[in-house]
Amino acid sequence: MGRLDESVALITGASRGTGAVTARSFVEQGAVVVLGDVLDDQGRAVADDLGEAAVFVHLDVTVEADWVAAVKLASQRFGGLDVLVNNAAILDVGAIVDMDAELLSRLIAVNQIGPYLGIKHVVAPMSARDGGSVVNVASIDAMEGSNGVAAYTSSKWGLRGLTKAAAMELGRHGIRVNTVCPGAGSEEMVRPFVEEAIDRLSARTERLPDRAQRPFNREGTLEDVANAIVWLASDESSYVSGIDLVVDGAWTVGKIEPGAPFS
Ligand SMILES: NC(=O)c1ccc[n+]([C@@H]2O[C@H](COP(=O)([O-])OP(=O)(O)OC[C@H]3O[C@@H](n4cnc5c(N)ncnc54)[C@H](O)[C@@H]3O)[C@@H](O)[C@H]2O)c1
Repeated sequence: MGRLDESVALITGASRGTGAVTARSFVEQGAVVVLGDVLDDQGRAVADDLGEAAVFVHLDVTVEADWVAAVKLASQRFGGLDVLVNNAAILDVGAIVDMDAELLSRLIAVNQIGPYLGIKHVVAPMSARDGGSVVNVASIDAMEGSNGVAAYTSSKWGLRGLTKAAAMELGRHGIRVNTVCPGAGSEEMVRPFVEEAIDRLSARTERLPDRAQRPFNREGTLEDVANAIVWLASDESSYVSGIDLVVDGAWTVGKIEPGAPFS
């Protein structure tokens, strides 16, 4: 028996990375999935690979008509909708003083307004099935602040705020709304913005004392994140709403003090 048997899910940003891995986990747990993204060819390939239980739809999360079409497809193909995973996002790396206002608007539109529109359009179909689960994928950047990612950080803190407000507003409809805050994600998101990002990041993780001060002796994986999303999507979390589920191996909790007991 799967943990998501008989569930119909819509996952945004599902053409690659966390979204694609989550779609696969959902299908493995018995769900049927609508994959939405702006990368059409990649998304179709992921859906084809998942077989009958998956279908791809072009969904730019900033376009309300795309949401209407995606929700309609879920209903026509699979009979309704139980789960929305607001996973799609974009990143920009740069100083506040250099930020272009149009780029800032686009980032906020994708990362914050997109999930808002998604929630807006799933309330009716989820209510028609006596409830559902919305999982908003934020980041550990929604738990703290870092230099160089002010736009992204603002958008992810905003997403946590949306989660809390929506959890209050939609509880009476049986709809739970939660945030997952991963400390891991796809390399493809980071690569374009930081020169030789991945090589440098992996070198850094071995070199910096910061790595030795983290409690887990490994990096997080996309599967770690997908597992948390599956749990929040499933009935196992049926009394959980409005939370931030941080999936970071306690990275943001504190530092291991060298020399202290159990270091
Ligand atoms: N990459 C990381 O290091 C990291 C860390 C923590 C959290 N996250 C979060 O995890 C989630 C998944 O990101 P990822 O790491 O898999 O990165 P990714 O870039 O591989 O995936 C993001 C997906 O969103 C899609 N997308 C972008 N704009 C869109 C739009 N307007 N409409 C629909 N889809 C759109 C992209 O095409 C892509 O497939 C995001 O919310 C991200 O902020 C990522």
